[in-house]
Amino acid sequence: MEALAEPNTVTNTAAKERPTVLSGIQSTGILHLGNYIGALSLWAANQSQYNNLFMVANLHTLTVPEAINPRELRQKSREVAALYIACGIDPDESIIFLQSDVPAHTYLAWILGCCTPVGWLERMTQYKVKAAAQETVGSGLLNYPALQAADILIYKANFVPVGDDQNQHLEITRDIAQRFNHLFGEYFPLPGTLNRTSGARVMGLDDPTQKMSKSIAAKKQGHAIALLDTPAVIKKAIMGAVTDAGGDILFESASVGVKNLLVLYEVLSGQSRPAIEANFAGKGYGALKRELVDLVVTTLEPIQAKFNELMSDDQQLDELLSTGATRASVIANQTVADVRKLVGV
Ligand code: TYM
Repeated sequence: MEALAEPNTVTNTAAKERPTVLSGIQSTGILHLGNYIGALSLWAANQSQYNNLFMVANLHTLTVPEAINPRELRQKSREVAALYIACGIDPDESIIFLQSDVPAHTYLAWILGCCTPVGWLERMTQYKVKAAAQETVGSGLLNYPALQAADILIYKANFVPVGDDQNQHLEITRDIAQRFNHLFGEYFPLPGTLNRTSGARVMGLDDPTQKMSKSIAAKKQGHAIALLDTPAVIKKAIMGAVTDAGGDILFESASVGVKNLLVLYEVLSGQSRPAIEANFAGKGYGALKRELVDLVVTTLEPIQAKFNELMSDDQQLDELLSTGATRASVIANQTVADVRKLVGV
Protein backbone atom coordinates (compact mmCIF):
# COMPACT_ATOMS: atom_id res chain seq x y z
CA MET A 1 0.00 0.00 0.00
CA GLU A 2 1.25 3.46 -0.88
CA ALA A 3 2.40 5.52 2.08
CA LEU A 4 0.34 8.59 2.97
CA ALA A 5 0.72 11.14 0.22
CA GLU A 6 2.41 14.38 1.14
CA PRO A 7 -0.22 16.96 2.10
CA ASN A 8 -0.60 19.49 -0.68
CA THR A 9 -1.99 22.29 1.45
CA VAL A 10 -0.97 22.43 5.04
CA THR A 11 -1.23 25.28 7.46
CA ASN A 12 -0.49 23.36 10.55
CA THR A 13 -0.75 25.83 13.39
CA ALA A 14 -1.65 23.32 16.08
CA ALA A 15 0.49 20.25 15.50
CA LYS A 16 1.49 18.86 18.86
CA GLU A 17 3.43 15.62 19.04
CA ARG A 18 0.80 13.73 17.11
CA PRO A 19 -1.24 15.66 14.55
CA THR A 20 -4.98 15.03 14.46
CA VAL A 21 -6.60 13.48 11.40
CA LEU A 22 -10.34 13.51 10.76
CA SER A 23 -12.38 12.32 7.82
CA GLY A 24 -15.79 10.90 6.97
CA ILE A 25 -17.95 9.24 4.35
CA GLN A 26 -21.67 9.78 3.84
CA SER A 27 -23.87 6.79 4.49
CA THR A 28 -25.60 6.96 1.14
CA GLY A 29 -25.46 4.22 -1.48
CA ILE A 30 -22.76 1.64 -1.67
CA LEU A 31 -19.11 2.29 -0.93
CA HIS A 32 -16.94 1.73 -3.98
CA LEU A 33 -13.34 1.42 -5.05
CA GLY A 34 -13.07 5.22 -5.42
CA ASN A 35 -13.98 5.67 -1.74
CA TYR A 36 -11.47 2.97 -0.83
CA ILE A 37 -8.59 4.33 -2.87
CA GLY A 38 -9.24 8.06 -2.47
CA ALA A 39 -10.11 7.93 1.22
CA LEU A 40 -10.27 4.70 3.24
CA SER A 41 -6.91 3.23 2.23
CA LEU A 42 -5.31 6.60 2.95
CA TRP A 43 -6.89 6.69 6.41
CA ALA A 44 -5.69 3.18 7.18
CA ALA A 45 -2.08 4.02 6.28
CA ASN A 46 0.10 5.43 9.06
CA GLN A 47 -2.68 5.47 11.67
CA SER A 48 -0.15 5.11 14.45
CA GLN A 49 1.40 8.48 13.56
CA TYR A 50 -1.80 10.43 14.17
CA ASN A 51 -4.71 10.94 16.53
CA ASN A 52 -7.42 9.72 14.19
CA LEU A 53 -11.16 10.31 14.09
CA PHE A 54 -13.23 8.67 11.38
CA MET A 55 -16.93 9.37 11.36
CA VAL A 56 -19.89 8.18 9.37
CA ALA A 57 -21.42 11.38 8.01
CA ASN A 58 -25.03 10.31 8.43
CA LEU A 59 -26.32 13.85 9.10
CA HIS A 60 -24.94 14.99 5.76
CA THR A 61 -26.98 12.21 4.20
CA LEU A 62 -30.14 14.00 5.38
CA THR A 63 -29.40 16.99 3.14
CA VAL A 64 -31.39 15.23 0.41
CA PRO A 65 -34.26 14.01 2.62
CA GLU A 66 -36.38 12.81 -0.30
CA ALA A 67 -33.86 9.99 -0.81
CA ILE A 68 -34.04 8.79 2.80
CA ASN A 69 -35.57 5.57 4.04
CA PRO A 70 -34.97 5.76 7.83
CA ARG A 71 -34.56 2.01 8.34
CA GLU A 72 -32.12 1.79 5.44
CA LEU A 73 -30.18 4.82 6.65
CA ARG A 74 -29.75 3.29 10.10
CA GLN A 75 -28.51 0.05 8.57
CA LYS A 76 -26.28 1.79 5.99
CA SER A 77 -24.60 3.87 8.69
CA ARG A 78 -23.65 0.72 10.59
CA GLU A 79 -22.43 -0.91 7.40
CA VAL A 80 -20.21 2.05 6.58
CA ALA A 81 -18.71 1.90 10.08
CA ALA A 82 -18.11 -1.86 9.67
CA LEU A 83 -16.44 -1.20 6.32
CA TYR A 84 -14.09 1.31 7.96
CA ILE A 85 -12.84 -1.43 10.25
CA ALA A 86 -12.85 -4.06 7.50
CA CYS A 87 -10.69 -1.73 5.37
CA GLY A 88 -8.07 -1.51 8.09
CA ILE A 89 -9.16 1.24 10.46
CA ASP A 90 -8.12 -0.07 13.84
CA PRO A 91 -10.59 0.90 16.60
CA ASP A 92 -7.72 0.90 19.09
CA GLU A 93 -5.75 3.44 17.04
CA SER A 94 -8.70 5.45 15.73
CA ILE A 95 -11.97 6.79 17.07
CA ILE A 96 -14.81 5.51 14.90
CA PHE A 97 -18.25 7.03 15.41
CA LEU A 98 -21.52 8.16 13.86
CA GLN A 99 -21.71 11.93 13.33
CA SER A 100 -25.26 11.93 14.73
CA ASP A 101 -24.02 10.45 18.03
CA VAL A 102 -21.96 13.59 18.78
CA PRO A 103 -24.55 16.40 18.88
CA ALA A 104 -21.83 18.99 19.48
CA HIS A 105 -21.17 18.90 15.70
CA THR A 106 -24.55 20.43 14.94
CA TYR A 107 -24.16 22.99 17.72
CA LEU A 108 -20.88 24.20 16.28
CA ALA A 109 -22.31 24.02 12.76
CA TRP A 110 -24.93 26.60 13.75
CA ILE A 111 -22.31 29.02 15.04
CA LEU A 112 -20.04 28.49 12.04
CA GLY A 113 -23.04 28.85 9.71
CA CYS A 114 -23.69 32.26 11.24
CA CYS A 115 -20.12 33.22 10.29
CA THR A 116 -20.45 31.95 6.70
CA PRO A 117 -21.55 34.34 3.96
CA VAL A 118 -24.35 32.85 1.82
CA GLY A 119 -22.36 33.78 -1.29
CA TRP A 120 -19.62 31.31 -0.30
CA LEU A 121 -22.20 28.55 0.08
CA GLU A 122 -23.93 29.31 -3.20
CA ARG A 123 -20.63 29.07 -5.05
CA MET A 124 -19.97 25.47 -3.99
CA THR A 125 -19.87 23.14 -6.99
CA GLN A 126 -21.48 20.28 -5.11
CA TYR A 127 -24.36 22.53 -4.03
CA LYS A 128 -24.97 23.72 -7.58
CA VAL A 129 -24.97 20.17 -8.98
CA LYS A 130 -27.15 18.68 -6.24
CA ALA A 131 -29.56 21.62 -6.10
CA ALA A 132 -30.06 21.46 -9.87
CA ALA A 133 -31.17 17.84 -9.51
CA GLN A 134 -33.76 18.64 -6.80
CA GLU A 135 -37.29 19.90 -7.12
CA THR A 136 -37.12 21.36 -3.61
CA VAL A 137 -33.78 22.39 -2.18
CA GLY A 138 -33.56 22.15 1.62
CA SER A 139 -31.50 24.75 3.46
CA GLY A 140 -29.41 21.86 4.83
CA LEU A 141 -28.01 21.31 1.35
CA LEU A 142 -26.87 24.93 1.22
CA ASN A 143 -25.48 24.78 4.77
CA TYR A 144 -23.75 21.45 4.16
CA PRO A 145 -20.25 23.04 4.24
CA ALA A 146 -20.85 24.61 7.68
CA LEU A 147 -21.55 21.15 9.12
CA GLN A 148 -18.51 19.71 7.36
CA ALA A 149 -16.40 22.58 8.73
CA ALA A 150 -17.77 21.81 12.20
CA ASP A 151 -16.87 18.10 11.79
CA ILE A 152 -13.29 19.06 11.11
CA LEU A 153 -12.77 22.11 13.32
CA ILE A 154 -14.43 20.64 16.39
CA TYR A 155 -11.43 18.28 16.71
CA LYS A 156 -8.98 20.96 15.56
CA ALA A 157 -7.93 18.49 12.87
CA ASN A 158 -4.58 19.19 11.27
CA PHE A 159 -5.12 16.91 8.27
CA VAL A 160 -8.19 15.73 6.37
CA PRO A 161 -7.50 12.78 4.04
CA VAL A 162 -9.98 12.83 1.15
CA GLY A 163 -10.38 12.32 -2.58
CA ASP A 164 -9.81 15.48 -4.60
CA ASP A 165 -13.56 16.11 -5.08
CA GLN A 166 -13.58 17.27 -1.44
CA ASN A 167 -10.87 19.90 -1.88
CA GLN A 168 -13.36 22.74 -2.32
CA HIS A 169 -14.99 21.72 0.97
CA LEU A 170 -11.62 21.90 2.66
CA GLU A 171 -10.97 25.34 1.20
CA ILE A 172 -14.25 26.68 2.53
CA THR A 173 -13.53 25.05 5.90
CA ARG A 174 -10.31 27.05 6.12
CA ASP A 175 -12.16 30.20 5.04
CA ILE A 176 -14.83 29.65 7.71
CA ALA A 177 -12.18 29.02 10.38
CA GLN A 178 -10.39 32.21 9.40
CA ARG A 179 -13.58 34.20 9.49
CA PHE A 180 -14.44 32.84 12.94
CA ASN A 181 -10.91 33.58 14.15
CA HIS A 182 -11.13 37.09 12.74
CA LEU A 183 -14.48 37.77 14.44
CA PHE A 184 -13.94 36.08 17.80
CA GLY A 185 -10.20 35.63 18.26
CA GLU A 186 -7.60 33.18 17.02
CA TYR A 187 -8.92 29.77 18.00
CA PHE A 188 -9.20 27.22 15.18
CA PRO A 189 -6.07 25.87 13.47
CA LEU A 190 -6.43 25.69 9.68
CA PRO A 191 -6.71 22.07 8.53
CA GLY A 192 -4.62 20.77 5.63
CA THR A 193 -5.96 18.60 2.85
CA LEU A 194 -4.37 15.18 2.31
CA ASN A 195 -4.86 13.78 -1.18
CA ARG A 196 -3.22 10.76 -2.72
CA THR A 197 -0.58 11.69 -5.28
CA SER A 198 -2.10 8.99 -7.52
CA GLY A 199 -5.70 7.80 -7.18
CA ALA A 200 -7.21 10.97 -5.68
CA ARG A 201 -9.96 10.76 -8.32
CA VAL A 202 -10.96 7.31 -9.55
CA MET A 203 -13.04 7.52 -12.70
CA GLY A 204 -16.13 5.55 -13.77
CA LEU A 205 -15.29 2.31 -15.60
CA ASP A 206 -18.14 2.79 -18.07
CA ASP A 207 -17.36 6.47 -18.63
CA PRO A 208 -13.86 7.55 -17.58
CA THR A 209 -14.71 11.22 -18.05
CA GLN A 210 -16.91 11.02 -14.93
CA LYS A 211 -15.77 10.47 -11.35
CA MET A 212 -16.73 7.05 -9.96
CA SER A 213 -19.73 7.96 -7.83
CA LYS A 214 -22.21 6.32 -5.48
CA SER A 215 -25.17 8.02 -7.14
CA ILE A 216 -24.27 6.89 -10.67
CA ALA A 217 -23.41 3.41 -9.34
CA ALA A 218 -26.92 3.12 -7.93
CA LYS A 219 -28.37 3.59 -11.41
CA LYS A 220 -25.81 1.97 -13.74
CA GLN A 221 -24.15 -1.42 -13.65
CA GLY A 222 -20.53 -1.46 -14.78
CA HIS A 223 -19.89 2.10 -13.57
CA ALA A 224 -18.27 1.30 -10.23
CA ILE A 225 -16.90 -1.61 -8.26
CA ALA A 226 -18.62 -1.78 -4.89
CA LEU A 227 -16.48 -2.97 -1.99
CA LEU A 228 -18.96 -5.80 -1.45
CA ASP A 229 -19.22 -6.92 -5.10
CA THR A 230 -18.74 -10.60 -5.95
CA PRO A 231 -15.77 -11.72 -8.10
CA ALA A 232 -18.15 -12.28 -11.05
CA VAL A 233 -19.50 -8.72 -10.87
CA ILE A 234 -15.99 -7.31 -10.49
CA LYS A 235 -14.82 -9.26 -13.51
CA LYS A 236 -17.73 -8.08 -15.65
CA ALA A 237 -17.18 -4.42 -14.71
CA ILE A 238 -13.43 -4.42 -15.32
CA MET A 239 -13.50 -6.50 -18.51
CA GLY A 240 -16.17 -4.13 -19.83
CA ALA A 241 -14.27 -0.96 -18.85
CA VAL A 242 -13.88 1.65 -21.57
CA THR A 243 -10.36 1.78 -23.06
CA ASP A 244 -9.40 2.82 -26.61
CA ALA A 245 -8.32 1.37 -29.95
CA GLY A 246 -4.60 1.34 -29.04
CA GLY A 247 -2.73 -1.21 -27.00
CA ASP A 248 0.37 0.40 -25.48
CA ILE A 249 0.48 0.46 -21.72
CA LEU A 250 2.23 3.67 -20.74
CA PHE A 251 1.10 5.99 -17.95
CA GLU A 252 2.18 9.18 -19.74
CA SER A 253 0.34 8.67 -23.02
CA ALA A 254 -2.61 6.56 -21.81
CA SER A 255 -6.16 7.66 -22.63
CA VAL A 256 -8.37 8.47 -19.61
CA GLY A 257 -9.90 4.98 -19.47
CA VAL A 258 -6.59 3.13 -19.65
CA LYS A 259 -4.98 5.58 -17.23
CA ASN A 260 -7.78 4.89 -14.76
CA LEU A 261 -7.13 1.13 -14.92
CA LEU A 262 -3.39 1.71 -14.59
CA VAL A 263 -3.85 3.91 -11.54
CA LEU A 264 -6.08 1.29 -9.92
CA TYR A 265 -3.39 -1.29 -10.62
CA GLU A 266 -0.65 1.01 -9.32
CA VAL A 267 -2.36 1.82 -6.03
CA LEU A 268 -3.61 -1.70 -5.30
CA SER A 269 -0.36 -3.45 -6.25
CA GLY A 270 1.96 -0.88 -4.68
CA GLN A 271 4.27 -1.34 -7.70
CA SER A 272 6.14 1.49 -9.37
CA ARG A 273 5.03 2.84 -12.74
CA PRO A 274 8.16 1.60 -14.59
CA ALA A 275 7.66 -1.90 -13.10
CA ILE A 276 4.02 -1.94 -14.22
CA GLU A 277 4.89 -0.73 -17.72
CA ALA A 278 7.60 -3.38 -18.01
CA ASN A 279 5.21 -6.08 -16.79
CA PHE A 280 2.58 -5.23 -19.41
CA ALA A 281 4.88 -4.30 -22.32
CA GLY A 282 3.44 -5.79 -25.52
CA LYS A 283 0.65 -7.62 -23.69
CA GLY A 284 -2.32 -5.36 -24.50
CA TYR A 285 -5.30 -4.13 -22.50
CA GLY A 286 -6.81 -7.61 -22.07
CA ALA A 287 -3.87 -8.68 -19.91
CA LEU A 288 -4.05 -5.48 -17.85
CA LYS A 289 -7.75 -6.01 -17.24
CA ARG A 290 -7.35 -9.68 -16.29
CA GLU A 291 -4.58 -8.94 -13.81
CA LEU A 292 -6.54 -6.04 -12.40
CA VAL A 293 -9.55 -8.33 -11.84
CA ASP A 294 -7.35 -10.68 -9.78
CA LEU A 295 -5.85 -7.79 -7.85
CA VAL A 296 -9.22 -6.24 -7.01
CA VAL A 297 -10.71 -9.60 -6.02
CA THR A 298 -7.76 -10.44 -3.73
CA THR A 299 -7.86 -6.93 -2.22
CA LEU A 300 -11.58 -7.10 -1.49
CA GLU A 301 -11.75 -10.73 -0.28
CA PRO A 302 -10.36 -10.11 3.24
CA ILE A 303 -12.34 -6.84 3.49
CA GLN A 304 -15.57 -8.68 2.71
CA ALA A 305 -14.76 -11.49 5.16
CA LYS A 306 -14.07 -9.02 7.95
CA PHE A 307 -17.18 -7.00 7.08
CA ASN A 308 -19.38 -10.12 7.28
CA GLU A 309 -17.85 -11.06 10.62
CA LEU A 310 -18.52 -7.57 12.04
CA MET A 311 -22.06 -7.44 10.74
CA SER A 312 -22.84 -10.79 12.35
CA ASP A 313 -22.29 -9.35 15.83
CA ASP A 314 -24.63 -6.38 16.37
CA GLN A 315 -23.69 -5.94 19.98
CA GLN A 316 -19.96 -5.69 19.30
CA LEU A 317 -20.48 -3.05 16.60
CA ASP A 318 -22.91 -1.08 18.79
CA GLU A 319 -20.43 -1.07 21.67
CA LEU A 320 -17.64 0.01 19.41
CA LEU A 321 -19.67 2.92 18.02
CA SER A 322 -20.85 3.92 21.45
CA THR A 323 -17.25 3.96 22.77
CA GLY A 324 -16.20 5.97 19.71
CA ALA A 325 -18.96 8.54 20.28
CA THR A 326 -18.04 8.88 23.94
CA ARG A 327 -14.37 9.45 23.16
CA ALA A 328 -15.17 11.92 20.36
CA SER A 329 -17.66 13.80 22.56
CA VAL A 330 -15.04 14.54 25.20
CA ILE A 331 -13.01 16.50 22.64
CA ALA A 332 -16.01 17.98 20.81
CA ASN A 333 -17.74 19.19 23.98
CA GLN A 334 -14.58 20.95 25.12
CA THR A 335 -14.38 22.84 21.82
CA VAL A 336 -18.03 23.84 22.05
CA ALA A 337 -17.47 25.04 25.64
CA ASP A 338 -14.54 27.20 24.45
CA VAL A 339 -16.53 28.53 21.50
CA ARG A 340 -19.51 29.41 23.69
CA LYS A 341 -17.24 31.55 25.82
CA LEU A 342 -15.62 33.15 22.77
CA VAL A 343 -18.93 34.11 21.17
CA GLY A 344 -20.64 35.09 24.43
CA VAL A 345 -23.46 32.56 24.80
P1 TYM B 1 -18.35 11.15 0.16
O1 TYM B 1 -19.20 10.29 1.00
O2 TYM B 1 -18.88 11.64 -1.14
O3 TYM B 1 -16.99 10.42 -0.18
C1 TYM B 1 -16.20 9.83 0.80
C2 TYM B 1 -14.74 9.92 0.45
O4 TYM B 1 -14.45 9.19 -0.75
C3 TYM B 1 -13.78 10.05 -1.66
N1 TYM B 1 -14.19 9.71 -3.02
C4 TYM B 1 -13.33 9.43 -4.01
N2 TYM B 1 -12.00 9.39 -4.05
C5 TYM B 1 -11.41 9.06 -5.23
N3 TYM B 1 -12.13 8.78 -6.36
C6 TYM B 1 -13.49 8.82 -6.36
N4 TYM B 1 -14.16 8.54 -7.46
C7 TYM B 1 -14.14 9.16 -5.14
N5 TYM B 1 -15.45 9.30 -4.79
C8 TYM B 1 -15.45 9.63 -3.49
C9 TYM B 1 -14.23 11.45 -1.27
O5 TYM B 1 -13.33 12.41 -1.74
C10 TYM B 1 -14.25 11.34 0.22
O6 TYM B 1 -12.96 11.50 0.77
N6 TYM B 1 -18.67 15.63 2.29
C11 TYM B 1 -18.05 14.33 2.42
C12 TYM B 1 -18.30 13.65 3.76
C13 TYM B 1 -17.84 14.44 4.95
C14 TYM B 1 -16.50 14.73 5.30
C15 TYM B 1 -16.59 15.47 6.52
C16 TYM B 1 -15.27 14.42 4.74
C17 TYM B 1 -18.66 15.00 5.88
N7 TYM B 1 -17.90 15.63 6.83
C18 TYM B 1 -15.44 15.93 7.16
C19 TYM B 1 -14.12 14.90 5.39
C20 TYM B 1 -14.21 15.65 6.57
C21 TYM B 1 -18.61 13.43 1.34
O7 TYM B 1 -19.71 13.59 0.89
O8 TYM B 1 -17.80 12.38 1.02
